[in-house]
Amino acid sequence: MHADPALDALFLPFDDGLLPPPQGAAFLGARPGPALQRWAGAGMTCEQDYRPPAAALERAGFDVVADELTPPATFATVLVLPPRQREQARAMLARAVRLAGPNGRVVACAANNAGARSMQDDLAALAGDVGVLSKHKCRVVWTQPGNVDEARVDEWLSLDAPRAILDGDVVSRPGLFAWDRVDIASALLASHLPRDLAGRAADLGAGWGYLAIELLRRNPGITALDAFEAQHRALPLLSRNLERFAPRVAITTQWADVTAGIDGRYDVIVSNPPFHADDRVDRPDLGRRFIEVAAAAMNPGGRFFMVANRHLPYETTLAAAFRDVRVLADAKGFKAFEARR
Ligand SMILES: C[S@@+](CC[C@H](N)C(=O)[O-])C[C@H]1O[C@@H](n2cnc3c(N)ncnc32)[C@H](O)[C@@H]1O
Repeated sequence: MHADPALDALFLPFDDGLLPPPQGAAFLGARPGPALQRWAGAGMTCEQDYRPPAAALERAGFDVVADELTPPATFATVLVLPPRQREQARAMLARAVRLAGPNGRVVACAANNAGARSMQDDLAALAGDVGVLSKHKCRVVWTQPGNVDEARVDEWLSLDAPRAILDGDVVSRPGLFAWDRVDIASALLASHLPRDLAGRAADLGAGWGYLAIELLRRNPGITALDAFEAQHRALPLLSRNLERFAPRVAITTQWADVTAGIDGRYDVIVSNPPFHADDRVDRPDLGRRFIEVAAAAMNPGGRFFMVANRHLPYETTLAAAFRDVRVLADAKGFKAFEARR
């Protein structure tokens, strides 16, 4: 497991006895690691929207929820590892303050290079005076009970709410990939998709559904589409955005870590695979694994369409996993491929 300084720092005030133990705490944005494991007996509820860490937390024996915890549930301690996206982070901090109620405490942590200062300002704006501890190039910030600006909490709670985007054609939500626009790499692939595809299809890493929508719009021969996505918050939006194709197309949405493999056999698979996980470091291993999983899930003669940053080294993996590989487009720093089995 890779180092996670923000997780380590989050637990320091408890390990050092500065704050009372996080017994029965809620942990928003929970991630697994040794610092959390030390509190395994504390009866925490871990909220995690992204499937890989959620699965790791389950394996480590924690209670995990993917849906957002909301009042009337309250917790004496609410731990938070906020996401990078500012609106989503503010909404999560506001929800944490509500979940802590008038007598509880929010304890949040972020790395200095991932918005720690804004997090401190945001938490102070919601709940007044805050305690601060700096360690491991991170800041841990905690609220004192009372003193909450309820009007601001109300305002920030809806900052990352689902909303119509792109002239009202689809719904999306802050925190998703390219949440308020069409990604140019996905647009490049979409513009090169053929119109004669048929049978069962899948989108690996479907986001709010852009590629899936373009695939189905162009290909009336497709009769079923399974949309796989690791971010739980995307699933209701995917269902909503794809329902226009029912009943012609049987749609499913699946909260899944594609790198762990998928069930099902497909005639068509599309993907703009993820290129990093929760940090911003390039992770070409994710895309390589998506290619292998797609190849393993193909019916004979099946066609795989993917797009990636042109500097990412996917061609060897594609050539090893598929019989024919061709470049459909090479533009704007991206390459789109078709691979046949
Ligand atoms: C580059 S985005 C493409 C999104 C969408 N298909 C589009 O074209 O706009 C990659 C998507 O993969 C999702 N993702 C990341 N890791 C994943 C994993 N291990 N399993 C499944 N999906 C994953 C991300 O949440 C993101 O929505």
